Amino acid sequence: MDIQSLRGMPDLFPEDLEKWHILEKTLSKVFLSCGTKEIRTPLLESTELFNRSVGNSSDIVNKELYSFLDRNDKSISLRPEGSASVIRAIIQKKQEHEKHKLWYQGPMFRYERPQKGRFRQFHQAGVEYLGYEEGLSEYELISMVIQLNQQLGIKKYKIKINHLGDKDTKENFCNALKLFLEPHLDTLHEKDVARLESNPLRILDSKEESTQNLLAKAPRFQDFLSESPKTFLTNIVQHFTDQCDIAVDSSLVRGLDYYTGLVFEVVSEDLGAQDAFLGGGRYDHLSKELGGKGMEAIGFAIGLERIIDLMQIQPLQNVQKVAFITVGEQDQQKTYKIAHALREANLGVILDAFLSSATLKSQLKRANKHEHHFAIIIGEEERELGKYLWKDLSAQGDQELLHFEALIDKYKNL
Ligand code: HAM
Repeated sequence: MDIQSLRGMPDLFPEDLEKWHILEKTLSKVFLSCGTKEIRTPLLESTELFNRSVGNSSDIVNKELYSFLDRNDKSISLRPEGSASVIRAIIQKKQEHEKHKLWYQGPMFRYERPQKGRFRQFHQAGVEYLGYEEGLSEYELISMVIQLNQQLGIKKYKIKINHLGDKDTKENFCNALKLFLEPHLDTLHEKDVARLESNPLRILDSKEESTQNLLAKAPRFQDFLSESPKTFLTNIVQHFTDQCDIAVDSSLVRGLDYYTGLVFEVVSEDLGAQDAFLGGGRYDHLSKELGGKGMEAIGFAIGLERIIDLMQIQPLQNVQKVAFITVGEQDQQKTYKIAHALREANLGVILDAFLSSATLKSQLKRANKHEHHFAIIIGEEERELGKYLWKDLSAQGDQELLHFEALIDKYKNL
């Protein structure tokens, strides 16, 4: 076949999606239990939105944005994340003065080098609390993260937190770091030399050994933080420490420019190189930077392809599956009225009408292969008697002939 899917944009097949559905249901249940409401924003936004939010110095905007000109020569981009769009939507609706607890889910796009756990089209589910100042909302979001992991059966994970201080803290630290690094430009990896100009803070999470060696002697970010954020971090760690593995990581700066205040990431060693399956933080200035009124904001997003690898939940087992088998000459209209009536009686059961003219034997073989629990068989004999054969496909193989009403009754009570 000469047409293939694009690199890093995998298909999801029915056998994959069974687990996805459980994940999505669990996520929305936990989100809703905290009083959040769902928001859906478009996949396409103006490129300017991401330039002004995620930031020109971030890899996401610099190298990974899927941007192109539309038919009106306007630069538009596939969204690389959800927070910027949510803020844009609230500003556009002029609702910055209200409090919002929102959640969303859907595909995101980043032109990254595909590898295990890293895709060009991937999915996120996220939560954004808008209009909530620093304090209790940080606690509620971390507690939501712990709850999610519990519900999904994820036990081996670590929550890393850090505080990026305010604008002055960031500026003072960046100036000091620049002063320290400038005499060492020849030792610094070229990627990090570029960052020194665009966003020095990102140098802290550099993966380059030469940079990390230099940083060992460089000014430390935590020394520029005032007492209040340090105490805030210590209190959070103390509060959650008996529920999960949580620790301050002062090199955690996150890859998006909009953060201020608390930032956090959840990692699992079971994931390999791309070990972060959740990331978030506070970004109180974004609303103003996008032309809206001041509005505090904090949130997180989960990488669904990554968290699904960690889930310890068996696919739904208690959904009953019934094969609807017809054999021989049939009054098709009448037969499928029966299928309709059965589904109407109990939508919680899967009635899999085979729509086939194959023999009874081969249809039963198919029912067994697909692990159906029961079969309803309408053959010529049954039609003459005005009855339907109800067959248990488990080892016992019980079967009985039922009138229409008894059949509906049985089906209703599955
Ligand atoms: P992020 O850290 O860029 O944050 O992405 C969140 C999560 O999405 C990551 O931890 C990772 O699990 C997943 N992810 C990112 N890129 C990929 C990829 N190429 N392939 C697979 N999974 C990926 C944000 O996007 C922020 N908007 C989070 C946030 C919400 N901050 C505040 N509110």
